[in-house]
Amino acid sequence: MTKTILLATEKPFSAAARDQTKAILEGAGYAVRVLESYKAESDLTAAIAEADAVIIRSDEIHAGVLDAAKSLKLVVRAGAGYDNVDIAAAKQRGVAVMNTPGQNANAVAELVFGMLVYSARGQFDGKTGSELKDKTIGIHALGNVGKHVLRIAQGFGMTVLAYDPFLSTDDIAALGAKPVARVEELYAKSDVVSLHIPATAETKKSIGKALLSSMPKDGVLVNTARAEVIDEPGLLEALKARKDLRYLTDIEPSAEHKAAFEALGKQYLATPKKMGAQTEEANTNAATAAARQIVAFFEHGIVND
Ligand code: 3PG
Repeated sequence: MTKTILLATEKPFSAAARDQTKAILEGAGYAVRVLESYKAESDLTAAIAEADAVIIRSDEIHAGVLDAAKSLKLVVRAGAGYDNVDIAAAKQRGVAVMNTPGQNANAVAELVFGMLVYSARGQFDGKTGSELKDKTIGIHALGNVGKHVLRIAQGFGMTVLAYDPFLSTDDIAALGAKPVARVEELYAKSDVVSLHIPATAETKKSIGKALLSSMPKDGVLVNTARAEVIDEPGLLEALKARKDLRYLTDIEPSAEHKAAFEALGKQYLATPKKMGAQTEEANTNAATAAARQIVAFFEHGIVND
């Protein structure tokens, strides 16, 4: 029987990325259904009911959604992390889960510097701003995005420190950053910290008042990772207590604290929607990689995680 692949993206890919992805899947003989910009979870549960595999972005796949997906064998997150997929529930139901790490990493890293320059220049208010050259950037987790941040920071003439508990100091040094042994040291020594940790049980709410308050004068925290890793009340306290600190992010804070962040004026900058991975290139790389992984899974039993 013809397999049905659902592309379910509440935040759509570009039309070109979507069409290339469809072409790969249709070329393999599958039927493709597209659900873009959906508003209600019931739209997703209705569409996923007949799907053998689904490609998602930050779309939530929890047990309830999986229960509606009677034929589902595979979920592919066209992006990084698995925090929006209930892996245990998927496993229980015999559904494999994959992602496409690295495919959108450069886009996210470029946005880090876009936000940094925009903020350092007073959000283009025409007043005297500051430069990134000769400043110190601390990369909190040197994974796919962190490595691109490192390369671009070197181009800006920044000193680059990095903390990553999963890499040895030799590995960090070999990549071209100065390793620091403790996360506290990273924040205390960096004019800018760029956050690239995944959202896990250990990291949720781990970045708050103590770390931000320890940053040098005019310290900037950039979060293009996940909203969940931020202790929002703690971060707000630090930002209110020190008017020189700034928080830049491409992920809006929770509805509960959004107004309080917005009241901080230029200490706070957030892009509408999560837009780090919203480039033509990243959309195409991530979505087509997901499509190829689906073909490899169904045709050759290849599971990459
Ligand atoms: C990712 O996890 O790959 C990025 O955060 C981008 O997520 P998105 O595809 O939902 O924009």
